[in-house]
Amino acid sequence: MAKMHVKMTVNGREVEALAEPRTLLIHFLREELALTGAHIGCDTGHCGACTVDLDGKSVKSCTMFVAQATDTSITTIEGIAEADGTLHALQEAFREHHGLQCGYCTPGMITRAYRLLQENPNPSETEVRYGISGNLCRCTGYQNIVKAVRAAAEQLAAPKEAAE
Ligand code: FES
Ligand code: FES
Repeated sequence: MAKMHVKMTVNGREVEALAEPRTLLIHFLREELALTGAHIGCDTGHCGACTVDLDGKSVKSCTMFVAQATDTSITTIEGIAEADGTLHALQEAFREHHGLQCGYCTPGMITRAYRLLQENPNPSETEVRYGISGNLCRCTGYQNIVKAVRAAAEQLAAPKEAAE
C-alpha cells in the first residue's frame, strides 16, 4: 500500500514519517515512535487505554488513523512529567492514592484526567466519574482513581490559591 507522509508534534518533538493510510495512531505511536505507554485494551473503542491528548482533546488513538493526526500536537503519557523528571501532580497523586495496580489503564487514565482537569479544574466526585467514563479499569474499582484525580486537582489549584 502506498505510504503517506505524516508529520506532527509529539510531546513537543517534531515527527515526520511515512505511514500506510490504514495505520492507526496507536500503532504509529507504539511501533514507529516507541512510545509504548499508551496501550490497547480492546478493538471496539471502549476501554480508553489508548487515550492521548491531541490538540486539546482526549482522543482514543485506536480510533484514529495516523494520517488524520497530521499537523496536530499530541501529548502521550511519556510527555506528562516535567523534562527534569518531576512527576505531574496526577502521576504523583495516582501513586500516593494507589490509583493503579497492573498499570495497563494508567497511561490512558492519566492522559484523560490531564485533559479533564483543564476542562474542569475542580470536579466533584460525580464529575470525575463521568469525566473518566471512557476509560475502563479492571483492577482498582475506580475509587482510588477518583481520589487521585481530585487530589491532583487540589494540588494544581494550591499555588494559585496561595498567591491570591
Ligand atoms: S484500545 Fe480500547 S478504546 Fe482504544
Ligand atoms: S490498574 Fe489494571 S486495569 Fe487499571
